[in-house]
Amino acid sequence: MKIAILGTGAGARCHATALAGLGHDVTVGTRDPGATLARTEPDMMGTPPFAGFLADHPGLALATFADAAAAGEVVVNGIDGANAVAALTALPGPALAGKTLIDYAVPYVYQQEGDAEHPWPTPWGVMPRLATLDTDSLAEQIQRALPATKVVKAFVTQEQQTVVAPNTVGSGDHTMFVAGDHPDAKETATALLRAYGWRDILDLGSLHAARGMEMYAHFHMAVNLALGGRPFGVKIVR
Ligand SMILES: NC(=O)c1ccc[n+]([C@@H]2O[C@H](COP(=O)([O-])OP(=O)(O)OC[C@H]3O[C@@H](n4cnc5c(N)ncnc54)[C@H](OP(=O)(O)O)[C@@H]3O)[C@@H](O)[C@H]2O)c1
Repeated sequence: MKIAILGTGAGARCHATALAGLGHDVTVGTRDPGATLARTEPDMMGTPPFAGFLADHPGLALATFADAAAAGEVVVNGIDGANAVAALTALPGPALAGKTLIDYAVPYVYQQEGDAEHPWPTPWGVMPRLATLDTDSLAEQIQRALPATKVVKAFVTQEQQTVVAPNTVGSGDHTMFVAGDHPDAKETATALLRAYGWRDILDLGSLHAARGMEMYAHFHMAVNLALGGRPFGVKIVR
């Protein structure tokens, strides 16, 4: 299948590598391929420049967000959450119309020390705040902005290294979630997850559930810090 991964961050690289390994035809999307390939410094999370990654994965293609989305039958959104709606709605309509868009972005707004009334210090800076919560979610914003696209929220409750290799944690005995308003799109996302090795995939129903999935990011971070960054999963015991 032709799959577009919109994003060049650490998470996007996990999916690009894993999906290419599964035999898919993967195009990675970025704002400006020339600028992305010209970067020589790691990003704020320490992810090395994309050019080296691409050199190590010659089977992957790099294109603009628009060209990558147009090339994909299925599209994965790994664009920085605060900028995702603007970036996706700027794409030409046909690039996403009728397609499944699997969104794993968190609507984080990164803050500087002193920005937040009650800052949460972490080893890498101040914990970001969520731009969207309680009565809305990033995934619902994307769905409203792109009514012809079938948005599925998935992958978001886990480090993407674990999303693409669930068996590396607890022998794979943990739970992944999907939510969305289009059953066929959720089936597409579920099939990808099964190919990654997920055995316990819980359908949370409509896209409203994305609110909880995105807000879970704060709890995920609390557990991540408590475990010193060690990968973990969550298991819904029922
Ligand atoms: N990494 C994980 O394990 C993980 C887990 C759960 C959720 N998430 C969430 O998934 C999303 C992506 O995470 P990530 O780690 O893969 O990458 P990221 O570093 O958060 O995002 C990088 C991508 O966002 C794009 N971007 C940044 N600013 C932009 C702007 N102003 N306009 C348009 N695009 C912009 C970048 O474009 P360029 O390519 O042009 O630089 C790049 O492709 C985030 O919301 C993150 O919180 C990540």
